[in-house]
Amino acid sequence: MLILISAGPTREPVDAVRFLSNRSTGKMGYALARAAVEAGHRVILVSGPVALPPVEGAETIRVETAAEMSAAVKDRFPACDAAIMAAAVADYRPKHPVVNKLKKQEGGMMLELERTEDILAALGKTKRPGQILAGFAAETDDVESNALRKLQRKNLDFIAANDVSKPGCGFAADTNSITVYASDGRRIPLPFGAKIEVARQILNIITGEAK
Ligand code: CTP
Repeated sequence: MLILISAGPTREPVDAVRFLSNRSTGKMGYALARAAVEAGHRVILVSGPVALPPVEGAETIRVETAAEMSAAVKDRFPACDAAIMAAAVADYRPKHPVVNKLKKQEGGMMLELERTEDILAALGKTKRPGQILAGFAAETDDVESNALRKLQRKNLDFIAANDVSKPGCGFAADTNSITVYASDGRRIPLPFGAKIEVARQILNIITGEAK
């Protein structure tokens, strides 16, 4: 299969030297890319800025902003059999980024933000029959109901939900505890483990090779 994977955070410029971002390290997305290459799939990895070694055997496209990630993903999705969006895309960006460096002034400062595009939801609108679309839901509360809502709203086939408030789970950890929900109603809890092992299992479920 040809599998598109997004990974890592995005950076949304405030000015020439500052940006808004999040704590994503890209580990889960890179583990998925590694697992997919290992399983013999062709992989396109669209990666935000991360400090991880490259995934050998994957075609990697490096991006910074949500808009750049959107352009790269939308360009490549039509040719793919499956897409797994593991990136932690910024939901907001500064409305008026400044080209030069902002100088400090007396008093506080207001930063106006605007929404970025929901890339996964956009793919959900254009996906063709047979194409598999999967997303992640990083939640701290009501994990199951939030995940199921995202599965439906974004027209996904699978969503991998993780409770990032649990120890050893979420952004910077090397381990994760995930439950995969499928659009056909299946609920598949995966054992707590290394992200590469969790990635292999997610991939097996998505590609229909789970035992
Ligand atoms: N995602 C995306 N583009 C965005 C935001 C999110 O493609 N602008 C994708 C992520 O890669 C992930 C999924 O959507 O696969 C879930 O993202 P998340 O931020 O957890 O959920 P939201 O739908 O943004 O909802 P909320 O902010 O309410 O949690």
